[in-house]
Amino acid sequence: MRKKVTKAIFPVAGMGTRFLPATKSVPKEIMTLVDRPLVQYAIDEARAAGIKEFIFVTSRGKGALEDYFDHAPQLEQELRKKGKDQLLETLKNTNMDSGEIAYIRQHKALGLGHAVWCARRLVHNEPFAVMLPDDVIAAEKPCLQQMVEAYEETGGSMVAAMEVPAEKTSSYGILDVKEDMGSMVSVGDMVEKPPVGEAPSNLAVIGRYILSPNIFRHLNRLKTGAGGEIQLTDAIAEELKPEGDGVYGYRFRGQRFDCGSKAGFLQATVAFGLARDDLRGDLENYLQEIMAAKKAAE
Ligand code: UTP
Repeated sequence: MRKKVTKAIFPVAGMGTRFLPATKSVPKEIMTLVDRPLVQYAIDEARAAGIKEFIFVTSRGKGALEDYFDHAPQLEQELRKKGKDQLLETLKNTNMDSGEIAYIRQHKALGLGHAVWCARRLVHNEPFAVMLPDDVIAAEKPCLQQMVEAYEETGGSMVAAMEVPAEKTSSYGILDVKEDMGSMVSVGDMVEKPPVGEAPSNLAVIGRYILSPNIFRHLNRLKTGAGGEIQLTDAIAEELKPEGDGVYGYRFRGQRFDCGSKAGFLQATVAFGLARDDLRGDLENYLQEIMAAKKAAE
């Protein structure tokens, strides 16, 4: 019987430089997509996948993130007094139970691999998920849930994968596919940010992982890889060796938005806005108006 995946690591210790000056005082993960911070989308997705323990790897200046998960008794009382039951319910859904959430500090931004390694003492000998909250995925069945279900069949380690245009492969970890089984591929090799024209495929790794605890052992031994950082990809690639448990790429069903970039964040805002019954009408009208005005000006 495979061990269930009940823990997720959320590495949020990066500096978010692409969103400066906003990220000078606001953690990127707290930035608002429609009316919820990015991190809430990740938490909801994790819960749907059966995650029970939420481990955040944070850094200096991320206090707002910790505050966000605290209960807000005064605010709740005020809403109750005013009979704003729906808002009260929304607020309660964001509460985390005591002991459900843990924060670990990454003292230096030494890369994603290092951030995951910082959580090693909280995970023990069990498979775990890693979620990057700035990858927001719109999907009928939440992406991590799809992966957990697939993982129950495969074991090993699993990365979420999606096809990207050839000219974009240099921005991602890219999979060299050993065997293509449709929604799942067996991975032969993984290359971090290959130069354009040298990518082994156009199947890119995005910010959802289910990893074997062996990964911590590999991270222990790793020296800094590409860009002077400790790369998670390098540790996962160790599992491709004959003595490893294997690595699978999972082509999830859904649309991923790169909310770590400005263009991706704006696209997500429009898409998530259009998906909301209370906003769709106004937003659609506005988009049609500006498209018509643009056409008229051409
Ligand atoms: P990014 O590459 O998006 O870096 O990290 P960043 O610092 O968040 O943003 P930019 O590029 O400066 O704008 C991917 C994920 O890995 C985490 C980040 O918080 C983000 O969730 N990370 C990265 C760490 O936790 N620690 C690190 O040392 C590096």
